[in-house]
Amino acid sequence: MTIAITGASGQLGKATTGFLMQQVNPGNIIAVVRDPEKMKDLSGIQVRPGDYDDPASLQAAFEGVEKLLHISSASYGAHATQQERNVVDAAKAAGVKHIVYISSVKLGEQPIFHGAQTNVQTEKAIRDNGFAYTFFRDSMYMETIPLFLGSALENGQIYHPAGNGRVSFVARTDIAEALANVLAAPKGHVNTVYDITGSNAYSFHDIATLLQTTKGLPATYTDIPADAFREELVKLEMPPVAVDFYLSMADSVKEGEFEHVDGALEHLLGRKPVRLEDYMRSL
Ligand SMILES: NC(=O)c1ccc[n+]([C@@H]2O[C@H](COP(=O)([O-])OP(=O)(O)OC[C@H]3O[C@@H](n4cnc5c(N)ncnc54)[C@H](OP(=O)(O)O)[C@@H]3O)[C@@H](O)[C@H]2O)c1
Repeated sequence: MTIAITGASGQLGKATTGFLMQQVNPGNIIAVVRDPEKMKDLSGIQVRPGDYDDPASLQAAFEGVEKLLHISSASYGAHATQQERNVVDAAKAAGVKHIVYISSVKLGEQPIFHGAQTNVQTEKAIRDNGFAYTFFRDSMYMETIPLFLGSALENGQIYHPAGNGRVSFVARTDIAEALANVLAAPKGHVNTVYDITGSNAYSFHDIATLLQTTKGLPATYTDIPADAFREELVKLEMPPVAVDFYLSMADSVKEGEFEHVDGALEHLLGRKPVRLEDYMRSL
């Protein structure tokens, strides 16, 4: 069975490829990447060039592939949606049978989070094109917490416009291991949707408490107005589409889109997922 992975040079892609190499012949794994140099540390796998903005490159990369792990686009808004559409169309043209796709937890029909809006459209395109599918609807990666915390990792003061919304943070490394288990399985997981979450959901007040207990910091969380957060992001010279993306993420947390807790990950791993307490202690 030949398995291709898009975004294989990224953090989730590399970790998944590493776990998968322990379960299947590395020669049957195809990393689809913009820059083959980035895969030099993983020997024995096939590496093919593929750019989400270049449909012909994707179709050539997917030739002979049975199962495709499509790691969602790292772009924003309509560009992300188009890139993922290019992947689905190229997979169809190349005769791919099964797509495993990275989506967002507890996906509703009209999510607030812009990334999840892309996920709705890509899930639909995968279903409508008759692929066998497995959707990994991931909650927020624990490894993104340092981005939210910023200087709070030194001074304990967290500022974010997420109200009392809670997030079922999940370790990216756990997701990678579970993905490898699904990709390596000769059958099963077909037309299945997994909500991939940690074992508990945490508000930013809870994260402040964890900063106290795990790091000994005098931590507090202040729920700031969305406009103040927008100003901070603009100061960082982010493009407007990215600013809107991160604002929609905070709003989405506030409204509970990331709070769902599910047992699917523990089942796929055959062990308990990484606990947020342990991750925070490691920071
Ligand atoms: N749920 C969450 O909390 C969360 C958090 C972060 C991300 N995500 C989603 O999960 C995905 C994977 O996360 P990650 O942490 O592994 O992200 P990452 O480390 O930023 O990796 C992104 C990957 O996408 C590739 N890529 C970017 N533009 C491309 C293009 N035009 N054509 C082909 N490949 C392209 C990158 O390739 P290069 O190496 O060439 O740049 C890289 O391999 C993200 O893309 C995002 O959709 C979810």
